[in-house]
Amino acid sequence: MKNKITKAVFPVAGMGSRFLPATKATAKEMLPVVDKPLIQYAVEEAVAAGITDMVFITGRNKRAIEDHFDKAYELEATLEEQGKKELLKVVQSVVPKHVNCIYIRQAEPLGLGHAVLCAKPVIQDEPFAVILADDLIDGETPIVKQMVEVFARHQSSILGVQDVPREHTRQYGIVSSTNLEKDVERVHGIVEKPKPEVAPSTLAVVGRYILTPRIFHHLETIKPGAGGEIQLTDGIAELLKEEQLLAYRFHGIRYDCGSKLGYLKAQVAFGLKHDELRAGFAEYLKTIA
Ligand code: G1P
Repeated sequence: MKNKITKAVFPVAGMGSRFLPATKATAKEMLPVVDKPLIQYAVEEAVAAGITDMVFITGRNKRAIEDHFDKAYELEATLEEQGKKELLKVVQSVVPKHVNCIYIRQAEPLGLGHAVLCAKPVIQDEPFAVILADDLIDGETPIVKQMVEVFARHQSSILGVQDVPREHTRQYGIVSSTNLEKDVERVHGIVEKPKPEVAPSTLAVVGRYILTPRIFHHLETIKPGAGGEIQLTDGIAELLKEEQLLAYRFHGIRYDCGSKLGYLKAQVAFGLKHDELRAGFAEYLKTIA
């Protein structure tokens, strides 16, 4: 097994039903936070971690994602003609030149585990990252980079985790663990979306994974779990029987952009950090507080 992480999988085939009607004809991952779509934040996080191959698991209504990371001939020619150099730079630097974007269609929505399994022909025998663009995480050091550093020390699968209120456990994969070193836990068990009364802890997996390629074997053999779907969490529970699995308490603020409230919080936080908007937006917020 290679020990450098160069590939990331972005499962983007979900329906985005919580954001209808906005997601009726476009991908939820294209929803912008201020001026960048969620999926671009996710790709930038991967690039910052040294990842060069972006593997998108797409589905119906996701063409906008492919277009976003492609060259936009007409738009670029028009901006050039109009002398709009700054905007041209913005459009051209959506993804750095050395990065490859690879698209795989998940024909049926069979679950997150199945989506990750669709990446097997591209990932083959390498450890890789999985990034859920819904979970926008703002860290001084990008979160995947933090996790790649932990991987370099331990060479095992790692789940990005944070504590959540007990009443929220049914929204997450929840781990049971013991502390190994600062911010790193050794995982002993993982369950998908347990009820608060039976959750083994309040430590929740939030949208960032580094996985060894052995995960594919388990995703191929597990039965459908919660919601009748092939769950990534169930595959990870099987992997845990054979390999060490770690959980990493990342440093950063996570916005659950799969929920309307989390998405609005992200808009406010990123609006207040945005160079052009900071002053005017802060001023406005004071008037409505
Ligand atoms: C998925 C995973 C879950 C994880 C969550 C993080 O759930 O199945 O284990 O905790 O992402 O956001 P979903 O949010 O797709 O229901």
